[in-house]
Amino acid sequence: MNTMLRENDLSHVVDADRANVWHHLMQHKAFETGEPRIIVEGKGMRVWDQHGKEHIDAVSGGVWTVNVGYGRESIANAVRDQLIKLNYFAGSAGSIPGALFAEKLISKMPGLSRVYYCNSGSEANEKAFKMVRQIAQKRYGGKKHKVLYRERDYHGTTISCLSAGGQDERNAHYGPYTPGFVRVPHCLEYRAQWNLSGEEYGIAAANAIEEVILAEGPDTVGALCLEPVTAGGGVITPPPGYWERVQEICKKYDILLHIDEVVCGVGRTGTWFGYQHYGIKPDMVTMAKGVASGYAAIACLVTTEEVFDMFKDDASDPLNYFRDISTFGGCTAGPAAAIENMRIIEDENLLDNTVAMGERMMNNLNALADKHAVIGQVRGKGLFCGAELVADRATKEPAAEKMVQAVVADCMAQGVVIGATNRSIPGMNNTLCFSPALIATADDIDQITDAVDQALGRVFG
Ligand SMILES: Cc1ncc(COP(=O)(O)O)c(C=O)c1O
Repeated sequence: MNTMLRENDLSHVVDADRANVWHHLMQHKAFETGEPRIIVEGKGMRVWDQHGKEHIDAVSGGVWTVNVGYGRESIANAVRDQLIKLNYFAGSAGSIPGALFAEKLISKMPGLSRVYYCNSGSEANEKAFKMVRQIAQKRYGGKKHKVLYRERDYHGTTISCLSAGGQDERNAHYGPYTPGFVRVPHCLEYRAQWNLSGEEYGIAAANAIEEVILAEGPDTVGALCLEPVTAGGGVITPPPGYWERVQEICKKYDILLHIDEVVCGVGRTGTWFGYQHYGIKPDMVTMAKGVASGYAAIACLVTTEEVFDMFKDDASDPLNYFRDISTFGGCTAGPAAAIENMRIIEDENLLDNTVAMGERMMNNLNALADKHAVIGQVRGKGLFCGAELVADRATKEPAAEKMVQAVVADCMAQGVVIGATNRSIPGMNNTLCFSPALIATADDIDQITDAVDQALGRVFG
């Protein structure tokens, strides 16, 4: 952190924040006596707060976003240059960075060919839901409009995204929900619904989706929307066999497969996209957080040419195109930042680093599980890891949320920012979350897991 900032007194900023800012996802009573946290500066893997205290950030900006790390001048320069040339024009026209990023992105996504720009993960998912409904109107008399979503998955904050949300505490109090969204069971074998394991479990969890389709009527189901690895619902890596069977089921009933890559997209799991681990072919992919690592707001909905064609094949119908707009989807800063973000990932071999450092993190967490009985299971893919905490390993009774939060707070006091599932699944907010930037070194990973080791020792004894 630069010395000017460290020496500056930021008490006025704290007062202004406390008086006027409504923070996301926070209960504010505590700020009447305590201070809100202000993050002032970031560089690489580290951030500094209002007191100049340094933290290593194990969650990429809190919500798995800053994939290439803080303080990237080349991204700032790319955005600055683009803003001076042309900051904005509505998305009914094209832009230079918009076209070039789309080309680059599509080169990483064989089988897909069209990029629709908007500015948040929720918005991208909403657009996919709208496409499903419009296809249903045009081709199926409105009938095939339902979207299936999975218990424990999250797709965003708007009312329709919450209606497709599998996290009951997140959804609570925001009904009535949008009709047409239908829940399917989660696929977390550790919290098994079937007395099976491995591939048999994966196939059973996928077959449970088929049962829902049959109960609803396949002619009413337009799409299935899933996270490749469930994020805020507990870092749930799918069991073997699951995705292959899911793909078969979608094909069998002519259901579009919509993969929500808002967290996994652009490197987080060690491949460009999470679905690419499983050899599946989605019809629609949504992405946001890591697309420009938070240097500018950008989200994309990417589709196949087949989906795109359904919106252009009848030019004689004045309503037969995607009648949707996103004002800020026309901001050029997003794709300008995204091009440079992708170049950094390529030139610095960050996908390889993610695989290697992800393995190290999993090994370290598994070693902690040998030492701390409170760790029930460690899960993860690339630099996207979770440790589910339990009060009792035999019964798998979840650890209390306040104890899980005490571990997070202890790490914070040590200068290590980790995350935990919170207020999402009733009684099941018990998974510690780790998603450091893809630039993490072995020392960074060890520093993070050492802090967790100490915190678990202090909180659970
Ligand atoms: C899997 C997933 N989808 C969608 C969203 C919503 O993204 P946004 O907050 O950008 O609207 C999130 C946000 O955490 C997410 O985790």
